[in-house]
Amino acid sequence: MGGMDKNIWVIANWKSNKTIAEALDWVSKVGSYIPKKENFKVVVCPTYSCISEVKKAIKVGNFPLLVGAQDLSPFKAGAYTGEESAVLLKDLIEFSILGHSERRKNFGETDEMVAQKVQQALANNIIALVCVQGEETLIPEQCSLIAYEPIWAISTGLTNTPGAGKADNPENAEIVAKFFKQKYGNNLEVIYGGSVSSANAKGFVSQPNINGILIGNASLDPGEFIAICKSCLE
Ligand code: PGA
Repeated sequence: MGGMDKNIWVIANWKSNKTIAEALDWVSKVGSYIPKKENFKVVVCPTYSCISEVKKAIKVGNFPLLVGAQDLSPFKAGAYTGEESAVLLKDLIEFSILGHSERRKNFGETDEMVAQKVQQALANNIIALVCVQGEETLIPEQCSLIAYEPIWAISTGLTNTPGAGKADNPENAEIVAKFFKQKYGNNLEVIYGGSVSSANAKGFVSQPNINGILIGNASLDPGEFIAICKSCLE
């Protein structure tokens, strides 16, 4: 990535996948590869059931990997059955993915709930990445990192599989990233997500206004994830 004068975020969103054993195998393979570079920020977002083990393995291996949750409670700790609140997670995570379209669609998350989640994250020193589905999506106040993820581009398969993969094209994602920066200020970092793989990652991170990628399916395989990281650093 040339002089690497901007941040590059490479974020693995495992969604509802991986046993603890599979998660630890991934961390041991990927962790030892990731270079220690200040502007190159690699984040793994496991399920809640794996977070604590993943965190320990990263600590023991001294790997430059951040840990994130795929969601957070909009509430503080208390009588909220089934919720994971930021104040209880903050010792385990540095990062959170909020307002993913799968949560908006399957769990009825609204812009108001996403804004409350962002507040909870930031109050507990957890970085909040808000997923936006298009230029019309509201971005909560104080949010400084968003992922542009058009719904039609999510989970269409690896783009290096012939006939599969319908990622947005990098030039269009760049236009959207620029739109958000013009609207919300240049301090906002914008990353792209939706069918990213080692075949197309570099095209996105090379765009001047795109600060990284959010990867679902292709992040599950350690070899493919390493190939994505490598391509971003070339
Ligand atoms: P995908 O998922 O890479 O499998 O398309 C991306 C996401 O939903 O964050």
